[in-house]
Amino acid sequence: MALDKYETHEYDMIVVGAGGAGLRAAIEASAQGVRTALICKSLLGKAHTVMAEGGIAAALGNIYPEDNWQVHFRDTMRGGKMLCNWRMAQLHAQEAPARVLELEAWGALFDRTKDGRILQRDFGGHRYARLAHVGDRTGLEMIRTLQQHAVHKGIDVFMECTIFRLLKDGDRIAGAFGYWRDSGRFVVFKAKAIVLATGGIGKAWKITSNSWEYTGDGHSLSCWAGADLMDMEFVQFHPTGMVWPPSVRGILVTEGVRGDGGTLTNLSGQRFMFNYIPDFFRAETAETVAEADRWYTDKKNNRRTPDLLPRDEVARAINAEVKAGRGSPHGGVFLDIATRRDPEYIKRRLPSMYHQFKELADVDITKQSMEVGPTCHYVMGGVRVDADTTATTVPGLFAAGEVAAGMHGANRLGGNSLSDLVVFGRRAGLYSAEYAKNFQGTLTIDVGQIEAMARECLEPFERSGTENPYTVHQDLQECMQSLVGIIRTEGELKKALDEIGVLRERTRRIKIGGNREYNPAWHQALDLHSLLTVSEIVTRAALERKESRGAHTREDYPKTDPAFGKANVVVRQVNGEITVPQEPLPEMPDDLKKLFEGDK
Ligand code: FUM
Repeated sequence: MALDKYETHEYDMIVVGAGGAGLRAAIEASAQGVRTALICKSLLGKAHTVMAEGGIAAALGNIYPEDNWQVHFRDTMRGGKMLCNWRMAQLHAQEAPARVLELEAWGALFDRTKDGRILQRDFGGHRYARLAHVGDRTGLEMIRTLQQHAVHKGIDVFMECTIFRLLKDGDRIAGAFGYWRDSGRFVVFKAKAIVLATGGIGKAWKITSNSWEYTGDGHSLSCWAGADLMDMEFVQFHPTGMVWPPSVRGILVTEGVRGDGGTLTNLSGQRFMFNYIPDFFRAETAETVAEADRWYTDKKNNRRTPDLLPRDEVARAINAEVKAGRGSPHGGVFLDIATRRDPEYIKRRLPSMYHQFKELADVDITKQSMEVGPTCHYVMGGVRVDADTTATTVPGLFAAGEVAAGMHGANRLGGNSLSDLVVFGRRAGLYSAEYAKNFQGTLTIDVGQIEAMARECLEPFERSGTENPYTVHQDLQECMQSLVGIIRTEGELKKALDEIGVLRERTRRIKIGGNREYNPAWHQALDLHSLLTVSEIVTRAALERKESRGAHTREDYPKTDPAFGKANVVVRQVNGEITVPQEPLPEMPDDLKKLFEGDK
């Protein structure tokens, strides 16, 4: 297939990814007066941000005046099993309230308290009801608000464009090379600075809440460009995804159901979460059903029911119940809100869940229990960034949102992603704009480099092999689901690495038919580059962490090891090989350390 001419666009800075972090970064950069473009793989507005349904966490103190940034910071650090970058967790807790109020000022219609303030709901691991929300459509409302604001700023938006590689001039970022999904033609964006806001990697697993776009593009692009990644062993399985019918398996069931009073039961109707309270949380968690039920109705309590333990704890408990044969008929457990709230309340607070179950599963959640089970939802690991500026280890490259590491440590608390997106999206926009403005000299892009990338993209059309990209993807998902899932062992992780190697070989035999226009099989073949890269990275990092912590559970190392609590597993490509050195965590200042006095 002949190489054609490619189009070129030039900007001061480009943002790759148009979810909450990308939109917020673009808004900020444009406000700083730099020429900004926003590139999305999908249509504008279609982002995994909308899968954070139940709310945005911020210590507004509207329900519990005793809430403040220090308590939010402490909850986040504890939830992340003390592996969060303390400075990111501090900035996040301090700045989240201002970002929520900013969204409100830009038109987001949050649910209200009776006296007209922003209402906040309970979520796992948060000491106080802290999630500002719009029913169970908070992420959607946030995207709507940011999108409208960005469009009115006059930011250039390029939709349905996949970035295949980042371009560098020497050590520095110089732009990005990609292709249009509709025409299959190539495009080069020249830019002094790039913000990666590409989201997660969930499509490497079979059961996932992520949609087709989440193939780890930003993680791989930055790794190939020489940036460090970190904490990639920590992949979050949200405890509650749909399990039945098979066509909808993995679709998210918001934690808001439990936040609003829903409870988990096993096949025999037992509230099994009472059997899984870790010592760490015992002091703050109800130990009897009666106590938990009292707390649900007594809004003045500040403790929690075990149904609302952090996600890693709940996902592991559900996994154990199913494994022990106490699961629901289709391999999940039951989530009941019907017997705890009246139908009006359910329809008002959880309208999307009501419709989702009615339309997709023929279940009326105001009368019946839902069947739910863990679904791959989020990756805590990502590109290593400077806490204040979001700068990566490659000059000119910044990262924010799910693609960036540090904020959530070993496990993210629900609701902390939406606040992360706007807090660090704004910072990424601000500091990348500053970098672009201060940039001295000129950037040159090597044409030979671009032509080599274009040829690499077109290779699947030229081959004589018989492999199919969809089959390779499915086999990768099976491998990651069964060998690099919630519970891991050295043997299984090593087997996964071997299988990933075989799948890599198979991708070299993928043959694509037809032409470049509207060719999803070709796009799938190209996405496999990043899917295989992130799968290998997660597996290698998981092998390196020989302990259990947060979302990373090793059956062969079931205990948390204090030595591993002092370091992050960093991922770095050296001469084409992935290396996984451990590097010490930054030291927390004494005034913040004091917040944890008395913790085990
Ligand atoms: O359950 C949820 O609504 C998801 C929220 C999140 O991932 O932050």
